[in-house]
Amino acid sequence: MNIDEARKKLIVALDVDSTEQALDLVERLKPWAGMFKIGMRLFYSQGPAAVEGLCRRGVKVFLDLKLHDIPNTVSQAARVLARLGVAMFNVHAAGGRAMMRAAVESCRKESAVLGIPRPLVIAVTVLTSIDQPAFNRELGLSGPILDRVVAWALLAKECGLDGVVASAQEAAAIRQSCGPDFLIVTPGIRPTGAACGDQKRIVTPAGALAAGASHLVVGRPIIAAPDPVEAARAVLDEMGASV
Ligand code: C5P
Repeated sequence: MNIDEARKKLIVALDVDSTEQALDLVERLKPWAGMFKIGMRLFYSQGPAAVEGLCRRGVKVFLDLKLHDIPNTVSQAARVLARLGVAMFNVHAAGGRAMMRAAVESCRKESAVLGIPRPLVIAVTVLTSIDQPAFNRELGLSGPILDRVVAWALLAKECGLDGVVASAQEAAAIRQSCGPDFLIVTPGIRPTGAACGDQKRIVTPAGALAAGASHLVVGRPIIAAPDPVEAARAVLDEMGASV
């Protein structure tokens, strides 16, 4: 894979408190990542201004707020998010069919009114921090995680969503069930030798790509590294990027 293809697949999580820190990371990492993820930490600290600031600079933003509420509330929230100009945002598949449909429909309408591209909408399946015992005993859900993830991916696809967030451990099964164009965005990526932290269902960058992931989300292994640029380049290297 050439370096540009690999770069487009890499999403760096801007899990920091301040807009200054986020902008500094974006400036340094822009040549090495195709998209930047704003999650609840930066959003709750800095608000929509942080998102708009990056979008205005032409940065592709994945807004990872994991919407999960009744359909009407999610529909209105999705409409508001579409106005921010993000490239992608997510909802929880556990919110169900009506909620996922409402999210896609309202941001489609709002984007059409504004004359901007509709943000990609993807569904969070089972968090990568949940392992099989926690899934069954703490969440009280039966069966293997894999079956639930594939079932939710199929439901998300049926609702018109563009893809899912899942562990790369489930990527091959999702790819087989949902086809070649479905986005499979995989956090829980750990380069060889990196600390797991709270992540449980982890996969290496090369493993995730081999399993069919379309995008790799990497946070701490890059942003908490002594040299984030060197760490991002190492991830691209592990993705098999050649210059
Ligand atoms: O630091 P790390 O590489 O573990 O960061 C992964 C990022 O992906 C975090 O921002 C986390 O909130 C997010 N994420 C996740 N698992 C999901 C969905 C999002 O780890 N299922």
